[in-house]
Amino acid sequence: MIELNKVVKTFKTKKGDITAVDHVDLKIDKGSIYGVIGFSGAGKSTLIRMFNGLETPTEGEVIVDSANIGKLSKQDLRLKRQKVSMIFQHFNLLWSRTVKDNIAFPLEIAGVSKSEINEKTKALIKRVGLEGRENAYPSQLSGGQKQRVGIARALANDPHVLLCDEATSALDPQTTDEILDLLVDINKELNLTIILITHEMHVIRKICDHVAVMENGKFVEEGEVINVFNDPQTYVTQRFVKDDLKADDLQRTLEDFRKEQPNGEIWKLNFVGGTSSEPVLAKIIKTYNIDINVIEGDVKLTQNGTFGHMIVHLPQGDYSKDQIKKELNDLGVKVEVNVSE
Ligand SMILES: Nc1ncnc2c1ncn2[C@@H]1O[C@H](COP(=O)(O)OP(=O)(O)OP(=O)(O)O)[C@@H](O)[C@H]1O
Ligand SMILES: [Mg+2]
Repeated sequence: MIELNKVVKTFKTKKGDITAVDHVDLKIDKGSIYGVIGFSGAGKSTLIRMFNGLETPTEGEVIVDSANIGKLSKQDLRLKRQKVSMIFQHFNLLWSRTVKDNIAFPLEIAGVSKSEINEKTKALIKRVGLEGRENAYPSQLSGGQKQRVGIARALANDPHVLLCDEATSALDPQTTDEILDLLVDINKELNLTIILITHEMHVIRKICDHVAVMENGKFVEEGEVINVFNDPQTYVTQRFVKDDLKADDLQRTLEDFRKEQPNGEIWKLNFVGGTSSEPVLAKIIKTYNIDINVIEGDVKLTQNGTFGHMIVHLPQGDYSKDQIKKELNDLGVKVEVNVSE
């Protein structure tokens, strides 16, 4: 069980005090996956760093498994950090160590015997799906694989709590989903409490049971994910939910188009400062006498021309797609064929 009681964190700077976390109360049950979402500067990282004593609260208490984190001695805090471990957006791996030796590192520090380290690292490598890559160096791994090393390293000392600071923000959507699936598996298998912070509602929706929405250091909304999703109360939450639904809708629409007209093509037209989008499309439709469906568009007119993109569906037909593509290119529009999003 984790509890924050009226936690405040103020940074003293030359330009004055900054209150990064402002009277936050919260309770997290064991085995929960608890998400904190907020825009940049909301105070998320400062908050999560107080769970393992990387930051000390200015006021209030941070209680993790009945220990008051801000009041622990150095030695006790060191031991506590073995049980409250952390993964990061940029992985924080040791670049001169192999996968295996990165995972072994916290075990070496904890004074675990060599044979036990060997056994444990082997099991962890298997657990996170990195078998065969144990002797690779971080620079030889993809982002997703690097985060798998980060997760294995964080699990080395059998933690009770895993803190994730934007752990998927540097990854592409598919790799993000794979890492999120791994976190859910670990949560279920080990009954590990996970606290994660993110600026993506998708991450919250996919794996969290509870969510808090943070703005200017405060929790402006908190509750079960399903309730917050169904009935967002504050403007900031409504924005997160809306962005998430929009991305989801587009995905579904694209799938529908593909199912109904499997021989058609979906193109993304990127406008990079050239002619206005409407005449361009009208010209193509007229010249080739085809129905082009606009699925989604986000195009902005500026002093320097039209910027943005449009996702369109081209039906199967007796016309040359290559010619259309060339024509669009000549008009300054870049074309991506068969986009998935
Ligand atoms: N060590 C520090 N010294 C002074 N100010 C700090 C310090 N750390 C954070 N802040 C300030 O506290 C506020 C919250 O920062 P924090 O990094 O917690 O936000 P965040 O929600 O994690 O943002 P992001 O999404 O960009 O990572 C910001 O105004 C930031 O400038
Ligand atoms: Mg942050």
